[in-house]
Amino acid sequence: MYKLLFNLVFKKMDPEKAHHLGFFWIRLAASVPGLKQLVRLVLAPQDRALRTTALGLDLPGPFGLGAGFDKNGVGIDGLSMLGFDFVEIGTITGEPQPGNPTPRLFRLVEDRALINRMGFNNQGSERVAARLATRVRTSSTPVVGVNIGKTKLVDEADATADYVKSTERLAAHADYLVVNVSSPNTPGLRNLQAVSTLGPLLWDVRQAADKATSHHVPLLVKIAPDLADEDIDEIADMALHLGLDGIIATNTTIGREGLKESAARIEEIGMGGLSGAPLKERSLEVLQRLRARTEGRLTLIAVGGIETADDAWERILAGADLVQGYSAFIYEGPFWMRRMHKGLSARLRASGFRSIAEAVGTAKA
Ligand SMILES: Cc1cc2nc3c(=O)[nH]c(=O)nc-3n(C[C@H](O)[C@H](O)[C@H](O)COP(=O)(O)O)c2cc1C
Repeated sequence: MYKLLFNLVFKKMDPEKAHHLGFFWIRLAASVPGLKQLVRLVLAPQDRALRTTALGLDLPGPFGLGAGFDKNGVGIDGLSMLGFDFVEIGTITGEPQPGNPTPRLFRLVEDRALINRMGFNNQGSERVAARLATRVRTSSTPVVGVNIGKTKLVDEADATADYVKSTERLAAHADYLVVNVSSPNTPGLRNLQAVSTLGPLLWDVRQAADKATSHHVPLLVKIAPDLADEDIDEIADMALHLGLDGIIATNTTIGREGLKESAARIEEIGMGGLSGAPLKERSLEVLQRLRARTEGRLTLIAVGGIETADDAWERILAGADLVQGYSAFIYEGPFWMRRMHKGLSARLRASGFRSIAEAVGTAKA
């Protein structure tokens, strides 16, 4: 059904327009009294066996929506209605910014992939914080991660102040906070992954978060799949040393290997981060490396090319406490989470483990 809708409507539309239209429907459905509950009943049936705890948070399951879909935190309830166990909003920057010129989002349908160079289009930390402040949080509201990044116009040398500003405004509204230093679409951003820069940056963000709230807000860093293996080890060591709560692996790649799409079209699309199926292998490798290095002492969230329950289960066994997806949601549609949950429930039961947490990291390296 969604495949038909995708082929007849979405595929013919500009991908960014299709995103806005789809997201509008989701938010509309969630705003109609009674409909939200009905949709949730169909799309998000909950299997108690999938309940899990990570980062000190109780979650209905391990599968969340990756950052970038809901940049401004405008559709959290709608996305949770579709079955996502948690929603990461952002990337939000210190100041509002329009992002890169359009077109900036491209589909590679044959590859089940996307290329984007959105460039952190978002309303800025002040406005998003004000929106989040109006949310009434109860034990049944979805867990919300807040992903922050650097404002494009801010110099690399002043990046910390920009992240700190966002932290001061947003930390109190975040169930967990993510420092994004891995998007390829803000010039110089990925340089912040160098441990000599990243350490002090994360330290200052940690201090700012502690000052802004009376409780501990878990802090994670999101890394690129294009890092050299030694850099991944260094970041893992630094995260442990700083007492960070976790690492999200991975963001999109600047690589273009192994695509079915013609070289001419790839060339025509130009710069941007590649996500979806072609990212699967490297994202898994990065996760395995992190797990080997940290041996369960950090919370690991796996993202990149996860399309099926088998993919998600593989990441969990490889050491992911939680998993996320984005690109497959575009291709699979609103029933995706239902299928993922059913598949994960089946894998869990067949495995003999009593919980997701028990299965984490049990794969032989
Ligand atoms: C259109 C688009 C926008 C994205 N925007 C962000 C972002 O703002 N911040 C971020 O940390 N990741 C962003 N991502 C990366 C995703 O969160 C995820 O890490 C990546 O797409 C790999 O997962 P996937 O293969 O399941 O899509 C974006 C991805 C896409 C496709």
